[in-house]
Amino acid sequence: MQDSNVFGVVLAGGIGTRMGNVEKPKQFMEIGGKPIIIHTIEKFVMNPQFDKILVLSPKQWIKHTEDLIKKYIPGIDNVVVISGGATRNETIMNSIRYIEEQGKLNEDTIIVTHDSVRPFVTHRILEENIKYAKEFGACDTVVPATDTIVESKDHQLISTIPDRSMMYQGQTPQSFKALHLRELYEGLNAEEKKILTDACKILVIKGEKVHLVEGEESNIKITYPYDLRVAESLLSE
Ligand code: CTP
Repeated sequence: MQDSNVFGVVLAGGIGTRMGNVEKPKQFMEIGGKPIIIHTIEKFVMNPQFDKILVLSPKQWIKHTEDLIKKYIPGIDNVVVISGGATRNETIMNSIRYIEEQGKLNEDTIIVTHDSVRPFVTHRILEENIKYAKEFGACDTVVPATDTIVESKDHQLISTIPDRSMMYQGQTPQSFKALHLRELYEGLNAEEKKILTDACKILVIKGEKVHLVEGEESNIKITYPYDLRVAESLLSE
């Protein structure tokens, strides 16, 4: 495999509280007879542009994640499991620290960060993420908003209804030049860090450009029990 300095970063550091009382984090639950996280990792493994694929899981689930990879993707040698962080962005920072420790972090290093619980990401989406991250430094995968977005500042009355033709729903991957992302993140104050909902906002807060990549309706995130049923039916299509 060529050393292209592009890293897949599969974010599995969460514990899935919205999934309810389940015995393991949602990324380890099965759809179509296979853990969700394995479906996701397989999409990355199939793309030869990735130098390495980093999987970040809660510390106490690292061994379990490694065992699953050995079982379902035997013989694969470019997937590494490391510990996630306390927040999603801290998990991303852990991936950058790992790349640095391996002596691979430079201005051109690209990370393609992706929710482990979005198993239906496509080859086209991954390809475009790599392309745009190289070209523009940062990109976000989105689909046009189908519902009208209603904003309510007090959660009781409508404050505004933005023009739907300009609204998108964010998916993942979100891809970045890793070194620059970390520099910006470290430059944020506590107040700014608190309002971060995702990694792209790190750039947006600083007035930097983030290019859009067209996502897919099927690139769903498994958040609630209902999403498991949707995922099963997408798989059987
Ligand atoms: N994630 C992560 N590190 C964290 C928190 C979240 O890598 N500290 C990952 C999750 O594992 C998931 C993705 O980010 O793949 C999207 O987040 P979300 O769906 O919110 O996952 P959870 O935090 O696990 O779920 P919940 O918010 O319901 O607790």
